[in-house]
Amino acid sequence: MSIRGFASDNNSGISPEVLKKIEEVNRGHVVGYGDDKYTETAVDLIKKNFGTGAIPFFVFTGTAANVLGIASSIRPFHSVFCAETSHIHVDECGAPERFAGCKLIPIETPDGKIKPDMLSKHMVGFNFEHHSQPGILSISQVSEMGTAYTINEIKDLADFAHRYGLLLHMDGARLSNAVVALGTGFKEITADAGVDILSFGGTKNGLMAAESVIFFREELADEFKYIRKQGMQLSSKMRYIAAQFIAFFENDLWKRNAIAANSMAHILYLAVKDIPEIKITQKVEANGVFIILPKHIIPALQKEFFFYPWNEETGEVRWMTSWDTTEEDIRRFVKVLKELVRA
Ligand SMILES: Cc1ncc(COP(=O)(O)O)c(C=O)c1O
Repeated sequence: MSIRGFASDNNSGISPEVLKKIEEVNRGHVVGYGDDKYTETAVDLIKKNFGTGAIPFFVFTGTAANVLGIASSIRPFHSVFCAETSHIHVDECGAPERFAGCKLIPIETPDGKIKPDMLSKHMVGFNFEHHSQPGILSISQVSEMGTAYTINEIKDLADFAHRYGLLLHMDGARLSNAVVALGTGFKEITADAGVDILSFGGTKNGLMAAESVIFFREELADEFKYIRKQGMQLSSKMRYIAAQFIAFFENDLWKRNAIAANSMAHILYLAVKDIPEIKITQKVEANGVFIILPKHIIPALQKEFFFYPWNEETGEVRWMTSWDTTEEDIRRFVKVLKELVRA
C-alpha cells in the first residue's frame, strides 16, 4: 500500500459510505438531469443545512462552481475582487476571465483573508464607463493559506460589499473544514452572514466529484439552469452526484471527515512546531500547514511523502491533511523530516 502524502486533500480516496450510497442508487432507471427522487433528497438536505432560502445546483468540479456561479451573477464589464492567493486567481487557468469575461483584481493579503480596509481604495470609478465596475467580492473559506474567516469577519465583508452594491461570493471548497474549526453551522457562516453565492465543495472532504453552486438570493438563481447547461456541467446521471451529497449529510459524514482532517493537521503542527530548523508561516486553523523548510531537504522529503512547494523562493511548502490521514502517517513523516533536518 502506498504511503499517504501531504500534497492535497484531493489525493485521498472517497469515503466508503459514499461509494456505498452510489451503489445503493444504482438500481433501475430514474429520470435524468436531476428530475429524480435522489436529487430531490439532496436538495432538501442542502436546504436543511443552509436554510430554506438556499437554492442549490450540482456540478462536477470546484472550478466550475466558482466560474459558473460568478459568471452567472455579473456582466463582462464587472470586476471581481479576490485574494492574490485565491484559487480563482491562481489555479483556474484564467477560466473566470474566459467564461465571465470579467476582470479579476487580486488583493494582497498576509494570510489569505481579505479585510474591508484592503478594499476601500478599490471602491472607485462607479458609473464611470472607463473603469470596470466593481461587481463581486470573492473570498475562500477555508482560505488558500489554511486560515478561516470568523462569522463576524464574513459579516463585515458582506456589509462592506453590499454597501457598495457588490455581491459576496464564497469559494467553499473546504467549507466543512471551516465549519468544524469554528464550531458553527453551515447556515450561520453563509446565508446568515450575508453570503450571496456559495461554491460548496464535497470532493476534498470524501466525495468523488460532487460540488455545488448555492444561491441565497432567488433572483441570482433564476437563469442559472441555462448557464450550468451552457457551461457543460449539467449531469445527465445526476442521481450519482446527489447520492454523494446524501451520504455527505447522512450521519454527519461531512463533519466526521472534516474533524478528522483538521485534527490531523493540528497533530502535525504540534509535532513539528518546535523543530528549530523550520518555521510555521500561517495559523493552523483547518487542514493545511504552511512551513518554511531548509530548501536542501525538500526534494528528499518529497520523494518519500509527496507535497507541493508553495513559494520556491523562500522554501515555503504546503502540507495538507485529509479525512483519511492517520497519526501513523504523521509519525513516519515527522521522523523522516527530523532525520533530514538534522543530517
Ligand atoms: C480553494 C479551492 N477552490 C476550488 C477548488 C476546486 O478545484 P477543482 O476544480 O479542481 O475541483 C480547489 C481545489 O484545489 C481549491 O483549493
